[in-house]
Amino acid sequence: MTLPVVLISEEEIQTRVGELAEQLSTDYGETDDLVLVGVLKGSFIFLADLSRRLTIPRTIEFIAVSSYGSNSTSTGAVRLVMDVRGNIEGKHVLIVEDIVDTGHTLKYLIGMLESHRPASVKTCALVRKAERAEVEVQTDYLGFDIGDEWVVGYGLDYAEKNRTLPYIGIVTPDD
Ligand code: PRP
Repeated sequence: MTLPVVLISEEEIQTRVGELAEQLSTDYGETDDLVLVGVLKGSFIFLADLSRRLTIPRTIEFIAVSSYGSNSTSTGAVRLVMDVRGNIEGKHVLIVEDIVDTGHTLKYLIGMLESHRPASVKTCALVRKAERAEVEVQTDYLGFDIGDEWVVGYGLDYAEKNRTLPYIGIVTPDD
């Protein structure tokens, strides 16, 4: 596989993350009950940067899901691997995702987390591939819309590689 070609630079990401944190700090400024729910594994870097730039109280939870199908094709069936550990009833939940692709994962997670009876559930994703959408799902806070390319870095991987790149780059899988 050739080296990733920069699609979104480190500086562009950091600027946008700062803007999102500012917007969230305003929008959730009246509550003490904001819970950021990071979706493993891909969200771990975005969640770390975003949460540290918020200027309001917040707690952190993680959730893990697995989608049936191969690494590059989704069947749309999502399975819960790890639920949130804390009690989120009555709290304002913000799901933090690295990427929205077909939308199946986010749609499943919204429904699943709503069953915990939170005060609200909203979504925040760093990138979204709008043209790949298979289900309608609301991304309340979005970093960037991108095309239908395989992207890595800033949490995103291809076959577990390149997650820790500071930028988002395009790879051309050779299999
Ligand atoms: C990615 C991403 C989302 C999901 C989005 O996770 O983190 O959770 O795919 O795809 P969808 O919109 O088509 O449902 P992935 O399965 O690659 O796992 P990872 O986060 O552990 O890398």
